[in-house]
Amino acid sequence: MTKITGATKVAGVVGHPVAHTLSPTLHNAWLAAAGIDGVYVPFNVFPEHFASFINGLRGGSLSGLNVTVPFKTVALTLADEVSERARLAQAANVLVFGPEGTVFADNTDGLGLLAAFAIQAPGFDPAAAPVAILGAGGAARGAAAAFLSAGATDIRIINRTVARAREIAADLGPTVSAHGLDQAGRAFAGVGALINATSAGLSGSGSLDVPIAATPATCVVMDMVYKPLLTPFLAQARALGRPTVDGLEMLIGQAIPAFRAFFGQAPPDGIDVRALAIQALGL
Ligand code: ATR
Repeated sequence: MTKITGATKVAGVVGHPVAHTLSPTLHNAWLAAAGIDGVYVPFNVFPEHFASFINGLRGGSLSGLNVTVPFKTVALTLADEVSERARLAQAANVLVFGPEGTVFADNTDGLGLLAAFAIQAPGFDPAAAPVAILGAGGAARGAAAAFLSAGATDIRIINRTVARAREIAADLGPTVSAHGLDQAGRAFAGVGALINATSAGLSGSGSLDVPIAATPATCVVMDMVYKPLLTPFLAQARALGRPTVDGLEMLIGQAIPAFRAFFGQAPPDGIDVRALAIQALGL
């Protein structure tokens, strides 16, 4: 346990609920290994008190916060300054408190997504082939914005409620198209990546029934859900021989730039936070 002093820098994660989060495991392992006088703690805040919680932190009593479900959209509206990538995603997963009382909102989920592909599917080129994204919530919107910034020229948003997919396509421009879930097979033709950004597959929720076999044999299949680590969706992709990328690598990928924003330096090398997270997941 880190020794707490009067000068300890405090950061954390805010959500509701928040007990399931792996972020404290990652950040505190890095803090300890780097010998930083800092600590990272969870905050379970009831939605009706979220705005007063954030506003009460203005002035820098915390250096920053990760933001998770269900606050990623509202967090953006409370910030004084919003990064371009958070604006495009219409969601913030990072808030940084400035000493003057300001709140800066950022989104590092897209960086995490691209980092996960770079690590687990190193030959993948986001600009080489169309990208299919399942879902049309904040996670899907962020993924589309990230692939757009990485040079993708054909992004297909596939959602049960096609109107929500159309909204994202209208916001992000002509390289993004909208498709119904019943048209998934057709939309999978020729894709280089298929990403599950729906909440289906989360422990206890329904699974997703899409024809993964309609993707090319080389298509990289990714699931943002990391609990379970091997979701039914990823298991199906593996059974078909598709290369896969998991949501835990994305979680680690978003945490690295967040740590830098909170503690002013990059996480130390040589800490296997993935192994620690897998241990914390009880796997
Ligand atoms: P977030 O902002 O975290 O992405 P969200 O806005 O609740 O979360 O979006 C969840 C996404 O998962 C939606 O795209 C939802 O589809 P609808 O827009 O049609 O509701 C999708 N989703 C959830 N469960 C699903 C299921 N069993 N099958 C297909 N899509 C599902």
